[in-house]
Amino acid sequence: MPATILIGAQWGDEGKGKLTDLLAKEMEVVVRYQGGHNAGHTVVVDSERFALQLLPSGVLYPHITPVIGNGVVVDPKVLIEEMDALEARGVDCSRLVISGSAHLIMPYHQELDALTERYLGKNRLGTTKRGIGPAYADKAARVGLRVQDLLDPKIFRQKLDVVLKEKNLILAKVYNRLGLSAADIAGAYLDQYAPRLAPQIGDSVGLVHEALARGAGVLLEGAQATFLDLDHGTYPFVTSSNPVAGGACTGAGIGPRHISRVIGIAKAYMTRVGAGPFPTEVAGEEGDALVARGHEWGTNTGRRRRTGWFDAVMVRHAVRLNSLDELVITKLDVLDTFEKLKVCVAYEAGGKRYEQLPWHQSVLYEAVPVYEELPGWRCETTRVQHEDDLPGPARKYLGFLAEQSGAPISYVGVGPERAQVVALNVR
Ligand code: GDP
Ligand code: IMO
Ligand code: MG
Repeated sequence: MPATILIGAQWGDEGKGKLTDLLAKEMEVVVRYQGGHNAGHTVVVDSERFALQLLPSGVLYPHITPVIGNGVVVDPKVLIEEMDALEARGVDCSRLVISGSAHLIMPYHQELDALTERYLGKNRLGTTKRGIGPAYADKAARVGLRVQDLLDPKIFRQKLDVVLKEKNLILAKVYNRLGLSAADIAGAYLDQYAPRLAPQIGDSVGLVHEALARGAGVLLEGAQATFLDLDHGTYPFVTSSNPVAGGACTGAGIGPRHISRVIGIAKAYMTRVGAGPFPTEVAGEEGDALVARGHEWGTNTGRRRRTGWFDAVMVRHAVRLNSLDELVITKLDVLDTFEKLKVCVAYEAGGKRYEQLPWHQSVLYEAVPVYEELPGWRCETTRVQHEDDLPGPARKYLGFLAEQSGAPISYVGVGPERAQVVALNVR
């Protein structure tokens, strides 16, 4: 069985954790291929809530080998805490394999992330302040430390000495901060984290290829989403990795020929956390209702998410960028009380109509969404188990999303629980 990719088709928090958990039933390996603990992926099992940051969401199943791929940036302290917390709840994390080529988030990354945001003032990006951007910047600048360096103290100290000299200069001269101690960092990383993580560090690429050769199911679990992608998102209000399908190949170490299925996941409306353009954003009562009904506060940072109507122009673009075969729509139940629903089918700006995402981002700021209005269903969908039991207007709404986005819908979510999902065939 070739690999499947699961990608957020909006700005994150679409329900990737829940769907990964669902798909994991038919898989043997679940790989996180980019991002770090900026992600917050929720799985709810029998009212018990698991919020995963670094561990692939398949970890909850004993038959799954969870893999942290080379494209991820790993804060070892956070990873150990996450493993300990899960173990305390009876989840066995011993099968985890961490790629030796994944990069380490270091204490100066986190500090610089927060300082840069403060320095940017009103122009800040609204990052999660987890050190993600600075860690990927060092990876690109070729001064990053990798997970495998934890197993070679000499190399680790050498690299740390070189890089810390520059970081401390920046901390002192630019930000008027005290420098960090190489001995303290090495003490924590080499003496505390390395022994704990050593049994999990290994050849993730080899493992994935062996699984593929055996015909085992491999799921590549995206973090963040298409419009937070460093290349294709609303730059600079993006994350520093490539969540798009191409990034899955790079971040897991497999070629595109191994991919047989690409699933995009989108909410039945839109949300975004942090700054950046958002053409269909709604404020006022409707926005408040979406926040309240959808519990739209960040899984990870607790920040209120911005909300808006479903933007088919963006999801249409996500279908293109990722070669999406299908869409999964989540949180349909959040719309249960709405009398009317809007779907953005195009933008208007400068006297022009845009049905595809404008290549120049300035257009997004002045874009006026062209909405189609659809009737709501005004009844509860949370107990629906079968497509035929969905209210007529809900089926029409989903049909319209599929038609406008250009991809069939294979599942719809009607609640946070593992079981609250309905298989569909909406084209
Ligand atoms: P992820 O980052 O894509 O994994 O998504 P998050 O876990 O950050 O955010 C999604 C939130 O919506 C979580 O609180 C989920 O429990 C919840 N959720 C997922 N699917 C559904 C759904 O179909 N309906 C409702 N009401 N909540 C859902
Ligand atoms: P999941 O995987 C939603 C956003 C941040 C900020 C921008 C850059 O749970 O969908 P970063 O810390 O990555 O440098 O922040 O990206 N962001 C997310 N928004 N869901 C996420 O992850 C996110 N990860 C990062 O809010 O706007
Ligand atoms: Mg999330």
